[in-house]
Formats: sequence, structure tokens, C-alpha cells
Amino acid sequence: MASQEETFKKMVAHCKEYGFVFPSSDIYDGLAAVYDYGQNGVELKNNIKKYWWDSMTLLHENVVGIDASIFMHPTVWKASGHVDAFNDPLIDNRDSKKRYRADVLIEDHLAKFDEKINKECDKAAKRFGDKFDREMFVQTNPRVVEYAKKRDEIHARFVKALEANDLAELKQIIIDCEIVCPISGTRNWTDVRQFNLMFSTEVGSTADGATKIYLRPETAQGIFVNYMNVQKTGRMKIPFGICQIGKAFRNEIVARQFIFRMREFEQMEMQFFVRPGEEMKWFEYWKEFRLRWHKALGLGDEKYRFHDHDKLAHYANAATDIEFEMPFGFKEVEGIHSRTDFDLSSHEKYCGKNIKYFDPELNQSYTPYVIETSIGVDRMFLSILCAAYEEQPLEGGDSRVVLHLPAVLAPVKVCVMPLVKKDGLPEKAREIMDDLKFDFRCSYDEKDSIGKRYRRQDAIGTPFCVTVDHDSLNDNCVTIRHRDSMQQQRIPIADLRGILANELDARQLLRKLL
Ligand code: GAP
Repeated sequence: MASQEETFKKMVAHCKEYGFVFPSSDIYDGLAAVYDYGQNGVELKNNIKKYWWDSMTLLHENVVGIDASIFMHPTVWKASGHVDAFNDPLIDNRDSKKRYRADVLIEDHLAKFDEKINKECDKAAKRFGDKFDREMFVQTNPRVVEYAKKRDEIHARFVKALEANDLAELKQIIIDCEIVCPISGTRNWTDVRQFNLMFSTEVGSTADGATKIYLRPETAQGIFVNYMNVQKTGRMKIPFGICQIGKAFRNEIVARQFIFRMREFEQMEMQFFVRPGEEMKWFEYWKEFRLRWHKALGLGDEKYRFHDHDKLAHYANAATDIEFEMPFGFKEVEGIHSRTDFDLSSHEKYCGKNIKYFDPELNQSYTPYVIETSIGVDRMFLSILCAAYEEQPLEGGDSRVVLHLPAVLAPVKVCVMPLVKKDGLPEKAREIMDDLKFDFRCSYDEKDSIGKRYRRQDAIGTPFCVTVDHDSLNDNCVTIRHRDSMQQQRIPIADLRGILANELDARQLLRKLL
């Protein structure tokens, strides 16, 4: 069986081969950590965005959307703390000349202890069979206890160093743990330094005095600076939310794992404005709602977990990540943060205007507290593809690559195929497609054997194929083939639209969230 790593590599190649994701500027050999979405990728991405947008704005009458610009007044980033504190701790290996994030090196090292513990557990589970008690084994097996002890000791030092912003201690942990550079294999490290992740550029010509501005590193600030505009023009009453989907940019040093960490990426963020003191209630509400949103897709409940932050960002008083089990371990897909009144208070101070909310029920003005949900579209895309990709052995030694995408998100919903390219079958197939295309994204395929055509659709995750054969001309029936079960059903053409509408009904997905 292929290892997770090999399967991941094949999935990345599959994404390119089938028009999901291409390296940016591919004909110039790409640009590190920047990717383009192809004809199927963009459809999947748009469907993810629609699912998110609808779940926010249709299901919550107190959540509305905006679309703010990428360029913002430079003081925004001073007020938000990004100019001074949006840094990563970096370390260079002198032999390979490669640069790493010190915290990532340590986190990877910590993850190895968990891998070792899991391996011991797997071995013991095989030995003891049904009698195996994992919890007891983890608490009593000397080797496992030793691994856990070491991990916890390093973890405690790591958290303390992060909280104190102690760069020398981060380096010392790397030295003490004997962490080597994956390229050179040596421990010849430089000191750890802070590195700001924002991209900057200039507006205006130099002669007129150009101004340095930043490409936004998060979409959230566009919401904060518009909060008053939306509240007043929309007559919004607290609690209310503003959501936004848009590009963000970060000069990431560790660019790894395909579209997991990019320099240009897209976020779906929502800021929910609440009364001070009520933030924890809403933090819990959004945590649970967001997890339901993920799980409703049916990719496997066991693939998600919450991970509370060891070190809170400068603006937060509570924060958790929703992690998804990628082939390279559990990784953050979404962050849910209780951002206090940090951003609004800071903007009020820097802009010098009153942006407090007048609460008519309390007859009082205050700066709202904010709960934020922030998810990367690209990471969500990656998690779906990782869960959906399967190299499936079939009876008779055959195999297929299939994407088990949730039908609502699939780029193409239906492929209509005439069995042969003659005898009036293409015309009949076109007629069917012309009727369906107003409701569903359809494709038409008449080339190659029907088996090959099914495989092509399996590879892009098309949930339904509809085949028109000679009998269809007389009985007005077609064969509908289901992607996952590969089962085929004969149905009247007149029923086709109704059956598809039912199977592809986004409302069923949204209903699961309530
Ligand atoms: N406004 C809060 C914020 O930006 P974050 O945890 O830095 O918080 C939120 O980012 C989400 O954005 C992450 O959970 C992740 O899905 C996505 N994200 C962040 N950096 C990314 C990157 N370099 N490439 C792709 N997605 C990224």
C-alpha cells in the first residue's frame, strides 16, 4: 500500500493533471508558494465559498457581508499591531543556507514524540488484540511514559519561551533537542530573529512623495474599519456580524505542503460584535457552529479536532483552531478567536474618532467585543481534496482514481454522454443537457469508451453520469450512474431534473447546521 506521503504527492500531481491547481506562472517554472486554480479548481473553490457565505448570511439574519479593498490606509496596520508584532521567529542553517521558522522546527520535533507513542500503541494493539486498553497502556508502558514526559517538558519550555518572546531560549531548545536541518543534516544554526510577514509596496509617484502601504495580511481589518458604516447604514443591533471573503498576503518563509501555506491566499472571515462580558458565550456558540459546518460535509467526524492556542495572539483572550487530519498530520484549517475590544479600541485611538456603539437597550455607549471566525479557503480546499482522493482497487484487478467530493461542492454535477456518436444519440443527449444546464453545471462527453468516460468523471469527482442509449430514443429513459457506488439506475428523462435537484440540494446541507 502507498504511504500517506506518496498518496499526497500523487494527489498534488492529480490536481495539476485534472485542472484543479497549477503552479503560478507555470511556463516560467512557477513561483514558490503561489498557485493558480484551474477550470475545476475554481468551481470547487467557488462552491466552498458559497457554502460558507450562505451558512453565515442566510442562516443568521444578524450577519451581513462586505467586500473591502486589499489596500488600506497604512495606519490601519499600525493600529492593528501588525507593523510591530506580526512576526515569525526565524533561524538559518549556515551549511544549507536554508531559513526555517524556529517554532515550526520545535513543533515538528514535538510531533515526533506523538508519532513514536502511536507506533508503540499500534504494536501493542496488534499483540493484545481485543484486550488492548490504550489508555492504560499509555499511562503504564515505561517507554511511552518516557516519550510523553520528554514531550511535555519540551512543550512547557516552548510555550514559556513563546509567551516571553524569548528568542535565545527558542534557539536553546533547538540545540538541546539536537534538531538538525533537514537539508544539510547539521546543527550549525544562527540566532533566532524576528521577521515581519507583511508585503509592502508604494502608492503615488516618488516625486509626489510616495506612501508605503501594505498588502493586507488578513481580511479582518477591512471589517473593523467598516464596522460603523455597516452598523449605521444597516441599522444593525448588537450582537451582529460582518463577513467577508477575500485575498490576503503573507511573506511566509516556510512554504510547504502545496497550498497549505501560501504567500497569496484567500480567507473567509467573520467578525461578530457583542456586548462586553458576553464574549465567552458567543465564542462557544461560534466554535460549535463552525465545527458543525465542517462535519456536515461528511468527510469523517474523526478527522476534526479543536486545538486551543498555547500562545494567544496580541489581540485575543481566547482562541482555538479547528484542525483537520491531513496526510501530514492534524493541521489548522480555521481559527476562532475572542479578539476582545482590542482592534476597535486601537482604531478609535489612532483615527481619533468616536466609533463606540450606542446600545439602546442599555442606554449606554461602549466598544463592542469581537468574536472572529477565520478560515482559509485554500486550506479548506486542500482538506476536502485530501479526504476525497482515493486510488480504489476494483474487481478484476482494475482500479480507478476517484474524488469522493461532497456532491454539492463538486465542480461538475452531471456529465451527459451518448453511448455512441451516431444514430441520433448525440442530439438526444444535447437536448437533455440543454434542459439541465440552467440548474446544474453539466459537461458533455462523447469521446472514447463509456468506461473511460466514467473514469474521467470519477477523477474530477462528478457525482452523476447520464448515459443516453438506443433505447432512450423509444422509451425516453436514461441510465444514471452514481460515482461512489458505481451503481446504475434506469430512469425516465422526465424525472431526471427532479432526482438531481434532490441529490444536489444545498438546503439539505444547510439544514444540518441548525
Ligand atoms: N484574522 C485572523 C487570522 O488571520 P490566522 O490564524 O493567521 O488568523 C486564519 O489565519 C486562517 O487563514 C488559517 O486558519 C488558515 O486557514 C488561513 N491561512 C493563514 N495563513 C495562510 C497561508 N499562508 N496560506 C494559506 N492559508 C493561510
